[in-house]
Amino acid sequence: MIQKYRFGTPIETEAAVLDITSIPVERSADGILSAPDIVNDEACLLTLASVSLDKGFSLTLTLDDRDAVYGLGEANRGINKRGHLYISHCNDDPNHTEEKVSLYGAHNFIMVIGAKCFGLFFDYPSDICFDIGYTRQDTLTVRADGTELYVYLITGDGALDIVRQFRWLIGRSYIPPLWAFGYIQSRWGYKNENDIRRVAAGYRSNHLPLDSISMDIDYMEDYKDFTVDQERFPDLSALSAEMKEQGLHFIPIIDAGVKIEPGYDVYEEGVKNNYFCKRADGTDFVAGVWPGKTHFPDMLNTKARRWFGNYYKRLIDQGIEGFWNDMNEPAIFYSEEGLAEAFRRMEELREQKENPDLNAFGAMCDAFCISNLQEDYERFYHNMDGKKIRHDKVHNLYGYNMTRAASESFDEICPDRRLLLFSRSSYIGMHRYGGIWTGDNHSWWSHLLLNVKMMPSLSMCGFLYSGADLGGFGSNTTRDLLLRWLAFGIFTPLMRNHSALGTREQECYQFEGLEDFRNILRLRYRLIPYLYSEYMKAALNDELLFTPLAFVWPQDAVARETEDQLLLGEGLMLTPVCQQNATGRHVYLPEDMLFLLFTSSEEYTVTPMSAGHHYISCGLAEVPVFLRPGHLLPLAPSCECTAQLDYSSFEVLGEAGKGLTYSMYTDDGYTKHPERDGRWITITK
Ligand code: NOJ
Repeated sequence: MIQKYRFGTPIETEAAVLDITSIPVERSADGILSAPDIVNDEACLLTLASVSLDKGFSLTLTLDDRDAVYGLGEANRGINKRGHLYISHCNDDPNHTEEKVSLYGAHNFIMVIGAKCFGLFFDYPSDICFDIGYTRQDTLTVRADGTELYVYLITGDGALDIVRQFRWLIGRSYIPPLWAFGYIQSRWGYKNENDIRRVAAGYRSNHLPLDSISMDIDYMEDYKDFTVDQERFPDLSALSAEMKEQGLHFIPIIDAGVKIEPGYDVYEEGVKNNYFCKRADGTDFVAGVWPGKTHFPDMLNTKARRWFGNYYKRLIDQGIEGFWNDMNEPAIFYSEEGLAEAFRRMEELREQKENPDLNAFGAMCDAFCISNLQEDYERFYHNMDGKKIRHDKVHNLYGYNMTRAASESFDEICPDRRLLLFSRSSYIGMHRYGGIWTGDNHSWWSHLLLNVKMMPSLSMCGFLYSGADLGGFGSNTTRDLLLRWLAFGIFTPLMRNHSALGTREQECYQFEGLEDFRNILRLRYRLIPYLYSEYMKAALNDELLFTPLAFVWPQDAVARETEDQLLLGEGLMLTPVCQQNATGRHVYLPEDMLFLLFTSSEEYTVTPMSAGHHYISCGLAEVPVFLRPGHLLPLAPSCECTAQLDYSSFEVLGEAGKGLTYSMYTDDGYTKHPERDGRWITITK
C-alpha cells in the first residue's frame, strides 16, 4: 500500500507518475500534526514516526537492532546505510572518500527492514539530510530546512515487495538501445579524429570487442555545446559513418553551461528568449565552467527545456545515437560574484605576502575555494512556468531536467528508435529518461567495492542503466585493478572504461597480456543477450536488476550482512574479487549453487557447491559467478560488437535433464514498444 502525505504546498517535481490522492497533514494552533483523512486502522506516517515542522521538516524514529536501512541510490558507503549521514545535494565532488555525504544524485528513497518493514520516499527537491544512526546509533532522522514536501509511505510484504511498489509509483525505467550494452571506451583527452581512429584500431586490430567510443569535451569548439571543432574533427558525419562500418558508435558529451560568446547561436537565442537562469535583478546569471563564463539554461522551464533539447538534433543529424550529459548538478567553478570576492580577499592579504603565517597562508588558500558554493546556488532563479523559484530550493532537479530535455526531444526527432542517454546528476524521476554513470571515482580498489555496493541501491531507485568508470577515472590505474574491475563491469548495463586527463592511459590494449582482456570482454558479449533480457524483465516488471542477498534471504543472518556479493537478475550470484593481490575470495552461499569459473571466454569449470562458507580460487583473468538452483545461463557465441550478436544458438549452462527453461526477451534493439515488438524465446537444457 502506498500513502502520499502532503505537507504544505510542495513543488511538483514529477518524480512520481501514479496518481494518488494525497493526505494533507494539518497543523493545529498548538503545533500538533494530524492527518484527518487517515482511516483508523491504516498505518499512518504520524504514528510510525515522530514528525515535526517546528524548525523545518524532521521525521524521527527509533531503529531496532534488527533494522537495516536500504536505498538512497547513488550514495556513499554500504548497501545497508545504517551508521552514517547522507545529504541529498547533487554535488560535483571528484573525491569520493568515505566521509563524503553528497555525491551527484539525490535519490530520497529509503526502506527500513527488520523489526519494521516499510519504505519512505521524500519528494523534496532541495537539500535533505538522512541521519541514519549517525548522531545516535538507534535513531533515524530525516531533516530538511523547508516544510513543503510530499512523503510517500510504502508498506508491504518485505523489501522486494516495497521496492516493486516504489518503482511502480515512479514509472518505468529508461531502456537504452541494445548496442548500449556493448563495451564503451572513453577518455578525457581524445583530441582529434586520429585519436579516435587510434582507439578504434587499438581494439579492432587486437580483436578486443568494442561497441562505442565516448567523446569528452575536446570534440567541441571552445567547449561550446552542440558545436564540433572543425580543425580537429573536420567531418563528424563522415567519421561516424566510417566508425559505423566498423560496428562502432560515438557518444558525445553535452555540458550544462552555455558559453557566453556573441555570435554563438545557442547563447544568442537563449539570451533573446530569456531561457537562461537569472539573478534576482533579472540579469542572466554567470557561472564559470570549461569555456570560461557561461549561462545555465533554465531546465525547469518547459519552453527552455524544449529549446535546449532541440539542439541535440544537430549531432543526431551527423550520425550520433547517444549522449552523456555532464556538469549538470550544475557544477560551478566560480560565479562572477564569487570571483570578485576572492580577488578582494587576496587584496586584503597582500601585505602579508612576504611572510604569510599559518592563518594568512590558510586564508590565501581558502580565498579561491569558490567552486559549487551554496551562496552561488542562492544567487540565481528559475522561471518554473511562470513561478520564480530560487535555485537552491530546486537544486536537485537540474540534472534530471537537462536529461529530460534531451529525452523529450529524442521522442520527436527519432520517434521510432531508442537513443542512448546517461547523465551525471539525477533525481528520482530521471530514471525514466536516461541512465547514470557514477561520476569521478578513482583507480582505487575501494572504489571497485563501492561500485559493487552501489549497484543494488541504484536498482532500488529505478536507475537500471548505470555503471561506474571502470578502471577508475582519477589516479593511475593498474593492470590488475582494471582486469578485476572489468570482470565485475561485464555485468553492469553501462560498461564503460573512462579516465581523466593526465592519468595513465587505460584502454585495454595499453597493457601487456591482451589475451586476458580479450577473454573478459568477449565474455561480456557472450552474456549480452542474457543481460539485456534480465534488464528488460527488471524494467518491464519494476524489479531489481541487482539484488542484495538480504532481500532474498531475510532470515539468514550471514546473507543479511553480505554486501560484496550480489544477485543479478533471476539466477546469477556475482562474487567479484575486489582485493589487490588476492588469488581468490571468501564466498557465502545461502543455498546450494553451481560455481561457474570462467577461465576464458569459452572455457569454464562447473562445480556444485553446498550452502555455507567457501574459499574459491580465482585468477586475475578469471570470472567467478554462481548459478542458483533451477536456473540456466545462456551464452551467445562470442563476437566483437553487438551488431555481430547471434541469437540462433546458445550454449546453456545449468543442470541438465531437469527440464529447466529460460525465457529470453529479444527485440530489434531499438523499438520503443517492447511489449508490442518484443519476443520471448524459450531456451532449454
Ligand atoms: C567531469 C566528468 O565527471 C568526467 O567524466 C569528464 O571526463 C570531465 N567532466 C570532463 O568533461
